[in-house]
Amino acid sequence: MITQEFKKLIEEKTEHIVNNNPLFIGARKGNLDKKDIEVYLNNLMFFFQHTPVHLAKAQRVAKARGNERLTEFYAEKIREEDGHDQWAKNDLKNLNFESRDTAPLEVINAGNMKLLALAKNMIDKDPSLFIPYMLFMEYFTVLAAPDFMANLEKNHAIPRKFITAIAYHEELDKDHVVEDLKVLDWISNESNYDELKEALFQTAECVDALLGDCVGLQ
Ligand SMILES: [Fe+2]
Ligand SMILES: [Fe+2]
Repeated sequence: MITQEFKKLIEEKTEHIVNNNPLFIGARKGNLDKKDIEVYLNNLMFFFQHTPVHLAKAQRVAKARGNERLTEFYAEKIREEDGHDQWAKNDLKNLNFESRDTAPLEVINAGNMKLLALAKNMIDKDPSLFIPYMLFMEYFTVLAAPDFMANLEKNHAIPRKFITAIAYHEELDKDHVVEDLKVLDWISNESNYDELKEALFQTAECVDALLGDCVGLQ
């Protein structure tokens, strides 16, 4: 069953990223510096600001192609995902970093740009491909967030109340994953299976790059 298979693939990818990505290694070893956290939160904010934009595009393209069910799903999803950048903005402020309405472009890293471009290109090709993209983002968050936040608290003295951009997502995305899996189940068929899987892998690669690129910027 594709849902079980994709869940397992995401669990494997997450384990690999958590074990090898500089951001997670840094959190574990306690050697992230303040700049890394600032860059990370700005990149999250920039990413979250684009989620409703991409969902609106996915909704438009799905509608233009006559896929009513997918159109409705994306319309609902926009309501669920709107305004989440505010959490990252609040975190920046509460941690005494400069907090602007839009993340400064000079700290937005190549992995983030690649991920956002991937979203746009996938939606243009087929709005169904945005489902494995979201599934990866949300399930990855649910899986990786608890240890990451515990390490930030233990090794960097940053409690989860200062990382609401992740803490809130960790909770909400548990339900979102369940919804994504249902949609994945009905959009998948023999002819789009390879493309859906490729979309999942490409998303994992870009997320890995985005997170790793947050570390070590001066
Ligand atoms: Fe969100
Ligand atoms: Fe979500």
